[in-house]
Amino acid sequence: MDPTAVGRSGAVILRPMRVDDVAEAERLSALAFAVLEGNSDLTRPPERAAAWQVRTAHLVSRDGAGCWVADADGTMVGFATSLRREGLWILATYAVHPSWQARGIGRALLDAAAHHGRGALRRMVGATTDPKALRRYRSAGLDLHPTMVLEGTVGATAMELPLHVRDGRPSDHEWMDSLDRGLRGAGRGEDHTLLSALHPLRVIDRPHRRGYAYLAPDSTVELLAASDRRTATDLLTDALSGAVGADVRQAHVTAANQWAIDVGMAAGLSLRAQGYLCLAGMKPPSPYLHHRALL
Ligand SMILES: CC(C)(COP(=O)(O)OP(=O)(O)OC[C@H]1O[C@@H](n2cnc3c(N)ncnc32)[C@H](O)[C@@H]1OP(=O)(O)O)[C@@H](O)C(=O)NCCC(=O)NCCS
Repeated sequence: MDPTAVGRSGAVILRPMRVDDVAEAERLSALAFAVLEGNSDLTRPPERAAAWQVRTAHLVSRDGAGCWVADADGTMVGFATSLRREGLWILATYAVHPSWQARGIGRALLDAAAHHGRGALRRMVGATTDPKALRRYRSAGLDLHPTMVLEGTVGATAMELPLHVRDGRPSDHEWMDSLDRGLRGAGRGEDHTLLSALHPLRVIDRPHRRGYAYLAPDSTVELLAASDRRTATDLLTDALSGAVGADVRQAHVTAANQWAIDVGMAAGLSLRAQGYLCLAGMKPPSPYLHHRALL
């Protein structure tokens, strides 16, 4: 299907996203998610907004055919960004202005972005709890897997500092790609350069066991992939050990990753359900904690 064929919905047209749209898309995304979550602050902190823009500009440059804007008389009213890595298509961010929701704009945007993934054997989307989003994803043939979040203050208790964890470097990216191919069917290629610029990278590279984790500012992990549960446990423990006494929030835990629940509970965190990992052509990866946008 030609994505431009779904280009009109009343006065709204779809057009490819440009790098100079990224700042406006960031504001729209912050607004849509704040309204969804009932937050009165409709903007992101400057450093988070800047990281969002760097990541999205990377996608628009690298995956232009997967990034679309809904435009009403020159005003952005929605957008979808997506990426294709080997045989995997990923929806990165997707939002429609609250005043324009539930009018079919989201459907048109998702169809256009999904065209970038035509022929891909696997698809991944991280979802909020917005019932409109869930309806869209299920209609697109994705399976919905509930996810959990671990949160609270990291206790100083029995957290034994794991051995063999070191800082990652560019020469690690090749084996990290092989690990991701085994876990999610696709390496990350240039996304590792982007992620390494935004986050500290910690790795374990031992005979017969390997894994990596990109760390968030609060010392949780933004993304973790490992060959086995012990390595994943060591990497998450290593990350949380940097947050003893601080409040943290570790999201994106699927039921396939009980090891992460064990680490979180050992660190004194509480567990609750929040959001979904939506997948087609694959089961929830494990041991793995997915990235919010680059999954
Ligand atoms: C998710 C989102 C992008 C979808 O865009 P949209 O323009 O609202 O979507 P559409 O109008 O194309 O589709 C909405 C669907 O939900 C249905 N819907 C509308 N209100 C609903 C409600 N309160 N509960 C359940 N379903 C609802 C609509 O009927 C439609 O389904 P249908 O096409 O099968 O009839 C948009 O709602 C949004 O920005 N939400 C907040 C941010 C978010 O959650 N983004 C997704 C990240 S995972």
